[in-house]
Amino acid sequence: MRLLFIGDIVGKPGRRMIQYHLPKIRQKYNIDVVVANYENVSHGFGMSQKNYQEMRNSGIDIFTGGNHSFDKKEIIELMQTEPILRPINMYEETAGSGVFVDEKHKLAVFSAMGMFGMPIFENPFRVLLKEVKKYQDYNIFIDFHAETTAEKRALFLLLKDHIAALVGTHTHIGTDDLMIERAGYLSDIGLSGCYDNVIGMNEKEAIQRFLSGFSKKFDINDKCKKIFQAVVFDIEHNSCYDAFKLKAYDFQEEFISMRARKL
Ligand SMILES: [Fe+2]
Ligand SMILES: [Fe+2]
Repeated sequence: MRLLFIGDIVGKPGRRMIQYHLPKIRQKYNIDVVVANYENVSHGFGMSQKNYQEMRNSGIDIFTGGNHSFDKKEIIELMQTEPILRPINMYEETAGSGVFVDEKHKLAVFSAMGMFGMPIFENPFRVLLKEVKKYQDYNIFIDFHAETTAEKRALFLLLKDHIAALVGTHTHIGTDDLMIERAGYLSDIGLSGCYDNVIGMNEKEAIQRFLSGFSKKFDINDKCKKIFQAVVFDIEHNSCYDAFKLKAYDFQEEFISMRARKL
């Protein structure tokens, strides 16, 4: 099975990148399932019903979340019928689910959130160690939404014998450590959206925040330089045998920017 994963899709520039590149890429690379992180889809904060439909129509099958999962409250209703996750280590009574099972591809997708610099929830290491063991007949893919590479790396090494692939999201900046160690791993896939500002948002407000200590409302300018980023995993028997990363700048053709190193 060939799975393609897209990280944080940030605002309209991010959606435009998905709408333009994903349908072509899906076909060209024979992708079976597309998973993407939705937490910044609608102007950087959560995902509206309208934008969900647009992203679904562009070819995303399953949506993973993060610290901005519930920024748009309408997501709660959508979660009841649609393949939209929130981090599994949020509290039990939180709306939605942290795992989605695709029986056709024998795939179980998990969404989880780190501890460092994040809202306080259950320990994702403990939660996932328990949860992945329930799905060992499936190919397991995890989006670990976390701030630090150390957390992502440690979680991967804890789980690698029980999963097919784990990719980090949240920092919006891609890392170049794509590797296969029985399972596929990448510390962070990076955003799809603007890349000439501060992690997808206009620099003016970001700089002001660091200069003054006060947050202003973040904004996204559509007239920015844009990037599309995704990682592809070839998966079998809940392990990974090949992986590569795809990039595209603006509306130019995509290219393979990195192949996984096998350990
Ligand atoms: Fe994000
Ligand atoms: Fe985030």
